[in-house]
This record gives sequence, structure tokens and C-alpha cells, in this order.
Amino acid sequence: MEGQSSPCHNTTDKKLTELALLYQFSTTLLSTIRLNKLTHLILTALTSGSSPLFERAMLFLHNEKSHTLQGMLGVTNGTSENLIVVGSSANPLSSRWDISDEVISRQRATEFCNRIRATRIDIDGSCDIINRVMTRNSLFHTDEASNDNCPACNSLRNLGVTVFAAVPLLSRDKNLGMIAVDNPLSGNRITLDDLHFLQLLANQAAMAIENSMLYNRIEEAHSNLRDARERLVRGERLAAVGEMAAKLAHELKNPLITIGGFARRLLKTLVSNSREHRYADTISKEVDRLEKMLTDILTFSSKPMICFNYAHCDLEEILKECFEICSAPLDDNNISLVTSFEGGPWTVLGDAHQLKQVFLNLILNASESMESGGTLTVSLKKAVRDKETVIVSIRDTGGGIHPDMMKRIFDPFFTTKPKGTGLGLAIVKRILMNHNGAIEAANQDQGAVFRVRLPLA
Ligand SMILES: Nc1ncnc2c1ncn2[C@@H]1O[C@H](COP(=O)(O)OP(=O)(O)O)[C@@H](O)[C@H]1O
Ligand SMILES: [Mg+2]
Repeated sequence: MEGQSSPCHNTTDKKLTELALLYQFSTTLLSTIRLNKLTHLILTALTSGSSPLFERAMLFLHNEKSHTLQGMLGVTNGTSENLIVVGSSANPLSSRWDISDEVISRQRATEFCNRIRATRIDIDGSCDIINRVMTRNSLFHTDEASNDNCPACNSLRNLGVTVFAAVPLLSRDKNLGMIAVDNPLSGNRITLDDLHFLQLLANQAAMAIENSMLYNRIEEAHSNLRDARERLVRGERLAAVGEMAAKLAHELKNPLITIGGFARRLLKTLVSNSREHRYADTISKEVDRLEKMLTDILTFSSKPMICFNYAHCDLEEILKECFEICSAPLDDNNISLVTSFEGGPWTVLGDAHQLKQVFLNLILNASESMESGGTLTVSLKKAVRDKETVIVSIRDTGGGIHPDMMKRIFDPFFTTKPKGTGLGLAIVKRILMNHNGAIEAANQDQGAVFRVRLPLA
């Protein structure tokens, strides 16, 4: 390190060198805001060069929550080469140091550093040494013997640190932690002068560390704010789109019903198997599909579906009604139905119409997944642990759900079907939430299983 290798002949020379060093140190710290780099620069400056200030330096930061000192970094003279001088290397007053990312990662990879980083020192349970640095904010000098029974001294001794000195990191009224130094190779005594100089450096370091921490906090707050704003804008936009969709769906529904009605009337009058009959049939089927889609959109975009028609509903009855409604698609797809409704009664408090919608959607999805036949198994049973909860399980043999899509199937508008709306499961989830229930999907055997939980009345 610049200025350190020249021997000091007298006190004035030494003081001048130290002053230049301090100046260079503070210029260096002012130019760095990244906490990680800052800590490496600080410890490297303390241990760098052929005649370093100290052979090893360790940084511990105060964790206010756990009231511990947390090891952050350890640098030894062996790994502290390569401080880069930026500016004129001949003039310490117009230059600063820098450190490369490669040196930083090399320092980080040493065993010494890893051991420091794994160290936690309980401040309250410590002996006078740590207490003096952390509570009374004063420096610790090596001449004093460390306490054999102290856990803090022991954790340092375990790091091979026996004779050492430590100074607090003071910034304004706060104690941010401590820097400890030692000379294990030469065994050179750390003088009180050395220690006072270390305290000067540590004060600069503490200020820089605090600034960097504050900067990080501002950055984090800024990024949180940006995220929140984006979410808000997106939410507002979605709400506007939803409102427009609802309006559109509402406007479209009436003419569609008229078209469907006329198409069905035409079907009755036209000769079957004629071309016109086929056309009218297509119109009628497409209108049905569009109507269903509009109903889904209207259901989903209506304000939260809090049910006002709370009543005692029999789940078994609701399911049986659903089977009846779905009998055509189930038969068309050659799907056999297996049910198991032992026990009961399965009474829940809720809106029967909405609950029917839940099971209809699940049964239709299952039937759509088994277009070339299969088995639909529907069962009702009590939850294993919670006897106040009923689990309705709807299982198919339609090949299941791709694991990549599992997370998204309940998202509104997520669909893998060419003519799907992607609203079925989103509606299901919302209705169940309003009934204090829940739903989960999984793959089982040759298909998917949806388990609905509802609190029993
Ligand atoms: N029983 C099931 N088997 C396989 N995939 C399913 C099943 N139920 C739902 N899915 C998947 O979840 C997606 C979303 O379902 P849903 O919200 O009902 O919308 P849609 O049926 O209109 O596609 C479906 O497109 C499908 O990929
Ligand atoms: Mg669906």
C-alpha cells in the first residue's frame, strides 16, 4: 500500500504518512456506495501491502433484532494484494483505491472468511471485552487477558484469534459493529498508537457503512414503491377492462338470446338433413356456446359474489342435480359415473345456486378432459383431521394437468382449450372463498382430481 512501505524515521514523518493514508482511505470510501465492496475495501486497506497495518482484519456488524454481532468478512494479508490505485500513485492526496470483483470473490472464498461469516456473538452474554466495544463504545486493547469463561472470547478463540484488538464502528450515535485486528504470524504487539489510528479509520468506515446501508434501504423502498405503483396501475386497468367486458357481455346477451330463439324455431320447421337445417343447427349451437361464455364473463366480472341467499344446502342433492344437468355431455363422451356418498347428511351453509355452479364447472371440465371415454368418480367424505369439514372430490381419468400449468389453472382467462374462456375455475375459486371453503387440484392415477373443502353446517 502506498506510503506504508517507507520506514518512518520520526514521529512527524509517521504522522504525515498516517494523515495521507487517512485521506486516501476517506476518498476511497466516499467513492463507493455498494456495501459489499465497501467492506472489502476497508479491511483490505487495513491489511494490504508488504508492511501492513495489521495481518488480519475482521468485520462484525450489529444485528439489532437478535442483539448479536454477526461476522461479515475476514481478510488476511495473504489475500489482500491487488488494491488498485486510481489517479496519481505518486500523490496520495489525489488518488484513491479500488478493488476488483475477482479479488473480492477470492477474499470471500477463503476458509478464514467463511469461518468469520459463520460466527455470531451474543452481545448480552459476553464478557467485558465485547461489552466495552459494543455498549461503552470504547476500544479494546490486547494487553488485557481475555476471559476463559466468556462465550464471545471463546468464539473468537475458535477462529484462532487470541491476542487481538477491537474498535467500535461508530456513526453518529449508533454503534454499527466492530472491527477486530490481530497479528498472528509475526506476533507483533498492537500498540495504543496503532489502535488510535485504527479508531480514526473505523470512524470513517462506520460513516461510509451507514451511508451505504441507508442508500440500500432507500433503493429497496424505491423499488417497493415502483412495484406497488405498477400493481395499482395494472389493477386499475384490469378493473376498467373488466367493467367494459361486463358491459359488452350484457349488451350482447339480449340479441344473442333472440338469435338463438329464432334459430331453434327454424330448426323445428326445416326439413331435417337439409342444408338449411344444418345451417340453423350450427347457428343454434354456436349461440349456445357464446351465451355460456357471456354468462361466465358476467359472473366473473360481477362485484364480489358474496352470497346473500345463505341457507342450509344438501351437497348430495346439489351433486345429483349436477349429474342430471351434465348427463348429456357425460353420455356423449362415453363416461361412466361412480359415486360414493356414505355417511352424511352433508349439509353446508351457502348459496345452493352458486354451489351448483362450482360442481357443474368441475364436472364439465372433467368431462371435457375425457372426450374419448373414461370414469368420473365423485365422493363426499369428512376431512381426516377436521371433522367439521366436508371434502368433495371429483376425479377423472382424462390424463391430468401438466405440472407447468398446475399453478395457473385458477387464473382468470387461463385456458388450454381452443374454445375455452378460462373463467370456470376462477369462478369456482371465488365462490368457494365466499363460502369459507377452498379448492386444490392434483394429478392422480390417469387423471386429475379436484378436492373442494367446505365447512359443514
Ligand atoms: N379435469 C381437468 N383435467 C385436465 N385439465 C383441466 C381439468 N380441469 C381444468 N383443467 C385445465 O385448466 C384450464 C382452466 O380451466 P377453466 O378455468 O375451467 O377454463 P376452461 O375450461 O374454459 O379452459 C383448462 O383449460 C385445462 O387446461
Ligand atoms: Mg372449464
